[in-house]
Amino acid sequence: MHIVHIAVEMAPIAKVGGLGDVVTSLSRAVQDLNHNVDIILPKYDCLKMNNVKDFRFHKSYFWGGTEIKVWFGKVEGLSVYFLEPQNGLFWKGCVYGCSNDGERFGFFCHAALEFLLQGGFSPDIIHCHDWSSAPVAWLFKEQYTHYGLSKSRIVFTIHNLEFGADLIGRAMTHADKATTVSPTYSQEVSGNPVIAPHLHKFHGIVNGIDPDIWDPLNDKFIPIPYTSENVVEGKTAAKEALQQKLGLKQDDLPLVGIITRLTHQKGIHLIKHAIWRTLERNGQVVLLGSAPDPRIQNDFVNLANQLHSTYNDRARLCLTYDEPLSHLIYAGADFILVPSIFEPCGLTQLTAMRYGSIPVVRKTGGLYDTVFDVDHDKKRAQQCGLGPNGFSFDGADAAGVDYALNRALSAWYDGRDWFNSLCKQVMEQDWSWNRPALDYLELYHAARKLT
Ligand code: ADP
Ligand code: GLC
Repeated sequence: MHIVHIAVEMAPIAKVGGLGDVVTSLSRAVQDLNHNVDIILPKYDCLKMNNVKDFRFHKSYFWGGTEIKVWFGKVEGLSVYFLEPQNGLFWKGCVYGCSNDGERFGFFCHAALEFLLQGGFSPDIIHCHDWSSAPVAWLFKEQYTHYGLSKSRIVFTIHNLEFGADLIGRAMTHADKATTVSPTYSQEVSGNPVIAPHLHKFHGIVNGIDPDIWDPLNDKFIPIPYTSENVVEGKTAAKEALQQKLGLKQDDLPLVGIITRLTHQKGIHLIKHAIWRTLERNGQVVLLGSAPDPRIQNDFVNLANQLHSTYNDRARLCLTYDEPLSHLIYAGADFILVPSIFEPCGLTQLTAMRYGSIPVVRKTGGLYDTVFDVDHDKKRAQQCGLGPNGFSFDGADAAGVDYALNRALSAWYDGRDWFNSLCKQVMEQDWSWNRPALDYLELYHAARKLT
């Protein structure tokens, strides 16, 4: 099958959040199963070009009142076509954040379809994502089906219904198949007016992570390569390196890591509460977070100042986006906290497990589907062929966080052998795309059969 993703994020060259990870890792998994995958991406001026191999000019065409230069390159082994309209829509130094983002991405979607048409492509599946490439679905159905693209089918994935619900609704109407990124989130949003009429073609498929991109045995950002066999040695070295890098006390204390966009979705008040609770229980906290909203950023700057006086050797808030540091935290932390208010899938809990860190999460969306509480979810884990792998809580309040975090910290203090065997066990769970990529292929095949 030939699958073309039209997307506005792609890890690691243009990643803002999990959408970028998924575009790359799902594509790689499907390509590894011997399918032909291409990606079409805007040629932002802020692309991380050192991760693009064999970069070259491909062609140019005129559309939408401007010349569009098309570049080709290889990213993580994937073929990527970069569209660069000469009207400068993507020369803004950012992926998102312009007042005309709707117009920028609408233009890109249309230009991408035009590129496919003019280039004589005839993919089986055109896969678009979220509000930003939602226009592909209706532009295709309204304007492109009679041409050489007539055999293509549209698959649309919702990564987050919070943004651009109107656009998402319109794409839902026109897509041949639609997915979201976990079964529980698909149920949570099933009553939403933009989803409800389309349940017959809507599926929840949990995301995976790319085990080669996130691989503690082969990670240049951590001090010692490790597997589940030497997890204690590997994580101890990573914790020491992390403490040293951030100027924290080099003691063997339970370390809680938080790696997140700092937005309402991620449970800001719960994150703050968890920081104080961990410190009260003599733990260490490292938060790596970037806040698009300056008010939230200021709030955390103030919190960092407050912590500085009393807890300078046990708490560090890194209020930025830092990919290498994220790797060291995944490896060096004992726990990764994800107390989201809602979470369509969540990748940080999956990456945490790959590095032998124990997730502490709120039971919502994909967090519910992937984290099985050691005290409460043995049966549910067993049904998925897994062992329990973390700590979880229900209520979006301080009591909820305390319930999970206290049990997690107590487990660390009271039973290191048990805790270490849990780390080993979670590392051995498979949260890659092995299974979900097959679900996507099944869906692609089903879409192709639609007339
Ligand atoms: P979302 O897409 O809602 O932000 P996900 O959990 O799906 O949440 O994906 C977040 C991705 O972004 C993960 O790969 C995580 O490691 C990464 N990430 C989030 N915040 C940061 C940060 N401040 N620095 C580096 N990486 C980050
Ligand atoms: C969104 C969601 C997140 C999901 C990611 C990738 O950004 O917030 O839960 O993991 O997309 O699908």
